[in-house]
Amino acid sequence: MTVAATILLLLSLLLVYSLLGSHAQTPENISLGSGLTTTTDSTWLSPSGDFAFGFYPLDSGLFLLGIWFNKIPEETLVWSANRDNPAPEGSTINLTASGYLLLTYPNGSLDHIYEDAAASSASMLDNGNFVLWSSVSRVLWQSFEHPTDTLLPGQTIPAGDTRLFSNTNGTVDYSKGNFQLEVQSVDGNMGLFAFRFSDSGYWWSNTTQQTNVSLVFNETTASMYMTNLTSIIFRMTRDVPTPVNIYYHRATIEDTGNFQQYVYNKVNGTGWRSIWRAIEEPCTVNGICGVYGYCTSPRNQNATCSCLPGYSLIDPNIPSKGCRPDVPVEQCANTPSETEYRVEVIDDADIKNDIFAELTRLYGYDLDGCIKAVQDDCYCVAATYTTDNVCRKKRIPFMNARKSIPSTTGIKAIIKVPVKIEDPIKGTNNSRPQVVVLVCLSVVSFLALLFATIIIYQNLVVPRFGLSKLAPSTQSADINLRTFTYQELHKATDGFRNRLGRGASGSVYSGTLRFEDKEMEIAVKKLERVIEQGDREFLAEVRAIGQTHHRNLVRLLGFCNEQSHRLLVYELMKNGPLSSFLFSKGEKPCWDHRAEIVLAIARGLLYLHEECETRIIHCDIKPQNVLLDQHYNAKIADFGLAKLLRKDQTRTSTNARGTMGYMAPEWLKCAPVTAKVDVHSFGVMLLEIICCRRHIELDRIEEETEDDDLILTDWVLNCLRLGKLEVVVKHDPEVLGDFKRFERMAMVGLWCVNPDPILRPTMKRVIQMLEGTIEAGVPPLVTAQSL
Ligand SMILES: *[C@@H]1O[C@H](CO)[C@@H](O)[C@H](O)[C@H]1NC(C)=O
Ligand SMILES: *[C@@H]1O[C@H](CO)[C@@H](O)[C@H](O)[C@H]1NC(C)=O
Ligand SMILES: *[C@@H]1O[C@H](CO)[C@@H](O)[C@H](O)[C@H]1NC(C)=O
Ligand SMILES: *[C@@H]1O[C@H](CO)[C@@H](O)[C@H](O)[C@H]1NC(C)=O
Ligand SMILES: *[C@@H]1O[C@H](CO)[C@@H](O)[C@H](O)[C@H]1NC(C)=O
Ligand SMILES: *[C@@H]1O[C@H](CO)[C@@H](O)[C@H](O)[C@H]1NC(C)=O
Ligand SMILES: *[C@@H]1O[C@H](CO)[C@@H](O)[C@H](O)[C@H]1NC(C)=O
Ligand SMILES: *[C@@H]1O[C@H](CO)[C@@H](O)[C@H](O)[C@H]1NC(C)=O
Ligand SMILES: *[C@@H]1O[C@H](CO)[C@@H](O)[C@H](O)[C@H]1NC(C)=O
Ligand SMILES: *[C@@H]1O[C@H](CO)[C@@H](O)[C@H](O)[C@H]1NC(C)=O
Repeated sequence: MTVAATILLLLSLLLVYSLLGSHAQTPENISLGSGLTTTTDSTWLSPSGDFAFGFYPLDSGLFLLGIWFNKIPEETLVWSANRDNPAPEGSTINLTASGYLLLTYPNGSLDHIYEDAAASSASMLDNGNFVLWSSVSRVLWQSFEHPTDTLLPGQTIPAGDTRLFSNTNGTVDYSKGNFQLEVQSVDGNMGLFAFRFSDSGYWWSNTTQQTNVSLVFNETTASMYMTNLTSIIFRMTRDVPTPVNIYYHRATIEDTGNFQQYVYNKVNGTGWRSIWRAIEEPCTVNGICGVYGYCTSPRNQNATCSCLPGYSLIDPNIPSKGCRPDVPVEQCANTPSETEYRVEVIDDADIKNDIFAELTRLYGYDLDGCIKAVQDDCYCVAATYTTDNVCRKKRIPFMNARKSIPSTTGIKAIIKVPVKIEDPIKGTNNSRPQVVVLVCLSVVSFLALLFATIIIYQNLVVPRFGLSKLAPSTQSADINLRTFTYQELHKATDGFRNRLGRGASGSVYSGTLRFEDKEMEIAVKKLERVIEQGDREFLAEVRAIGQTHHRNLVRLLGFCNEQSHRLLVYELMKNGPLSSFLFSKGEKPCWDHRAEIVLAIARGLLYLHEECETRIIHCDIKPQNVLLDQHYNAKIADFGLAKLLRKDQTRTSTNARGTMGYMAPEWLKCAPVTAKVDVHSFGVMLLEIICCRRHIELDRIEEETEDDDLILTDWVLNCLRLGKLEVVVKHDPEVLGDFKRFERMAMVGLWCVNPDPILRPTMKRVIQMLEGTIEAGVPPLVTAQSL
């Protein structure tokens, strides 16, 4: 009996095994050694035939390895393995004998779609999921866990690293586009972002303060919602047409930035129909019209991109690429005579760019006051004025200018439009009906005239008298500086013929001095906007500069103080500003040298802040103010000038000196200015040097390089937050080979740009961290300057 029972048991076991074995031969299970090529039309179908896995042909003649709805004429693609790198004709996909999934290109190179533990089979399931199984039928890999832009019923997005990215252009260009969907691991909030612009999000589920959150696309009900393991905390789809199973379902983040759920009737096949959408007003999608773009959408149907007055499309064929200013203005560097402005007011329009563009917020202003505030601030290019009497001044680069009813109703956008001097002002009036044009030329042209007169006077009239005048005697013999006459410097510079450059404090000319039988090359700086101050104050300032002796500071040799002429004479720095060295098109300085330059500047700044007799805050640290000598040593220039300059040059209420982008936020907040402002600017510059990239790089957007962000500091911070710092330097093998040092320097840079001056390190600490004598540690991961 027991023997018979045992045999029976064995037989039934055998039967089960053979059944399983025969099951493995059914078409839905793909066995090891199978493959597909682009040249045959073969695919791996799901049992019902609803979904196909294989090579999806593009108009370009290339192929995406993907999954698509196979029974409808649209053949809508829902997933792809190589969206950014389509495969040429002749490529193959193989589930190899060793259990890996490999994409082989005709040139022989391989793309490993899956290569972890060896799989024993694969299947294309009826819900659109492609699965690799282990020998014990455990899921090793599934396409549902690596979504591209689309979710299908049965798919969930847990909080954390799984993100959806839109296509670049609908069904024309499937590569990774501008918009991202993410369920944040920090707080469980789900958001839509224009990630290329380090956007803070334009749509939120508001499911904050929750743990174990995920986005669920329920397979039974075909509805989408957010859960926290125990309950539904936010519902998206409310009305799904029934019966659910006569429809196909999908949810997609689109090239317009919207996230929508669609149904497709299998019976009468009338195309995809939207049953839920996140965004009702297309222009409220951030970044939809690029940098400086202007979005309108009168009936909230499609977003139309154009430009604000004073700006033109980068690419007239693709308006969504954004705009550029017609007149490139170097901010606050020009005298008023060079650019004039008119101001236009656009009703019911807003400029939303919360993270970066806001300059200052003025409360209790009326519209005229706001317009005047815009005119009076050379850093300000636009503003918005809201019904609660708040005037928000904006700086470059601004984004998200839009007219979107009802969200921007009642808001006024104020735009400063540069006018070329020869332009007739008339004519612009009539073209835009809803635009009020305010011309404020009289004041500007008066200033222009005044300035022109002063410049002519300085350049032509005075030198003639200067011949006979003697330099004031140096009563301050303790200054180890030479006093020059204007005539001497006029001669040394050949009549100020060769201008090297021009900064906020004045123009610099090269020249040659004969000096005790030696020829010496010099740089002469003509201070242009000096304050009316007595000789005593001027000499005190010059003495302070003259007493600085450090190998990383440009040496002051002497000065001229003759009537209205105030000039400073420096050693000539043969290799010019660091900015040209770093950002020019040609070959980049090598990584070791860049790291050395960072330390040199840090040492120079430490000396100014803590070691020299009169402590000096530079206030305008930037690559243009770091010069390279004949041996490419870096030296800080233009220090000690803060007090020599007229305080109202920026004409902001805070009298800031400094350059936008490098300026610490406390400049804008009337907070006390300390040496920490230099630390902030140093941090920005450090990141520029180690990344070989400008802080704000509009060209990058135009070139559409992948994964780049507009603002360098935000980008580096974001990459660090995502644990992908190497992305920043992925094109720089030299740095990748020395990544630990790069990482340490990037951390130091991020510490320095902290919005809170108290949290920024001193220069002494910066040097210790750079040298590795103390740990840098992970900086606080904050971006937005909470103004
Ligand atoms: C991959 O699959 C294709 C198509 O079935 C086949 O021709 C090719 O030999 C396979 N390659 C390998 C390495 O298995
Ligand atoms: C082979 O072709 C693929 C697809 O076109 C391409 O991405 C890859 O760089 C090529 N590899 C080599 C070594 O040329
Ligand atoms: C394919 O095979 C695996 C085990 O090898 C099994 O668990 C799975 O159910 C099969 N899939 C289908 C669709 O038959
Ligand atoms: C998308 O592609 C279409 C067709 O080629 C083109 O007309 C359109 O301008 C493209 N849109 C964008 C935003 O690139
Ligand atoms: C989330 O909160 C914001 C701010 O209160 C609100 O504007 C937005 O409509 C909310 N999102 C949703 C999906 O309700
Ligand atoms: C839920 O969240 C808690 C706290 O964040 C975490 O410890 C736990 O592992 C999570 N549970 C699941 C199933 O993810
Ligand atoms: C889908 O919805 C059904 C019915 O409400 C529910 O029983 C099921 O648990 C849901 N599935 C998931 C994965 O939440
Ligand atoms: C899920 O959310 C509900 C409602 O907000 C709450 O009562 C419950 O405690 C949450 N559960 C977990 C595990 O967080
Ligand atoms: C297709 O079928 C759906 C439901 O079965 C129905 O509501 C719809 O009107 C039909 N459309 C057409 C064009 O027949
Ligand atoms: C504009 O919107 C309409 C209606 O929503 C849509 O049918 C059309 O395809 C859209 N056009 C473009 C170019 O997106």
